[in-house]
Amino acid sequence: MTSRSAPGGRLAPADLEAVGAVVTGKGQGTIVEADNLDLLAALPDGCVDLAYADPPFATGRVRRLERIRTGEGERVRPGFAGRQYRFEVVSDHAYADTTPLDEHLDALELRVREIHRVLAPHGSLYLHVDWRTSHHVRLMLDEIFGPERFLNELIWAYDYGGRSPDRWPKKHDTILWYAKGETWRFVREAIDRIPYLAPDLVGPEKAARGKLPTDVWWMTIVPPASKERTGYPTQKPIRLLERIVAASSLPGDLILDPYAGSGTTGVAAARLGRRWVLGDRNTEAVAIARRRLAAELETIEAARAAAEPGAAEGA
Ligand SMILES: C[S@@+](CC[C@H](N)C(=O)[O-])C[C@H]1O[C@@H](n2cnc3c(N)ncnc32)[C@H](O)[C@@H]1O
Repeated sequence: MTSRSAPGGRLAPADLEAVGAVVTGKGQGTIVEADNLDLLAALPDGCVDLAYADPPFATGRVRRLERIRTGEGERVRPGFAGRQYRFEVVSDHAYADTTPLDEHLDALELRVREIHRVLAPHGSLYLHVDWRTSHHVRLMLDEIFGPERFLNELIWAYDYGGRSPDRWPKKHDTILWYAKGETWRFVREAIDRIPYLAPDLVGPEKAARGKLPTDVWWMTIVPPASKERTGYPTQKPIRLLERIVAASSLPGDLILDPYAGSGTTGVAAARLGRRWVLGDRNTEAVAIARRRLAAELETIEAARAAAEPGAAEGA
């Protein structure tokens, strides 16, 4: 892994201003379309309380998700018993994940060094990877943060999609959690509780309360037909990000996601009353994340207005 100096400082003036407003607490959140190295260069040292980063996995493929409507359209797909179905593509989102592994790791290293710089002394980074890179990235994080700053190797386990004929199906991602300094945020009471595996062994009261998750998180992927689904490939479940944001930050904190995709981290931050700075270089991703955040903020505002004293009478 080589190290080069960050180009930096190339954000559009309006983006620079929006980022500055969020950093100083005048703005609630912003989404920037840019290479994240430029976004990171615009952030002052130590301003971020929590970073979550979900870089491409170096799959060597273009990640694509098409949504189709059957029954209409020009294209035809084969069906059961030789039947044919017409369909049309109603949305098609893609980004390239084709960088060779060495280059991918070099690029990631530059960004992780920058993330480390912008983290507050109590800040931490959750870095989301999978079997293709987790072993390289763990060593990289040990080098940049120090092995003594390693907190957890979280396993996000899901169960969806095909089965390998000749090996165990690969159905988990790895999220490496490192702290910048000697103390960090871990708000146990804010963490969602989950059912005991053997509730009969713990008694009714404990069983009803549920238990804290361990470092293995069983959670479904975003279901294909759910309202949560944006159509952006590799969208992560909002529950996953809500758990991370709730556990490792406080209300008002600044959350950074430099590989924002469909904006899941921003939605979690907005729901939990944090500030957010998101970045992605893909125009489609930024458009989706902006639409998603705008809808989320409207929902939050409507709920707030409905909860205000006198709201019911006025309705
Ligand atoms: C795995 S996806 C993130 C998905 C996201 N967590 C979500 O829930 O939708 C990775 C994203 O990183 C973006 N990306 C990759 N390299 C980047 C770079 N150098 N600067 C900014 N964005 C980048 C891609 O465009 C892609 O949207």
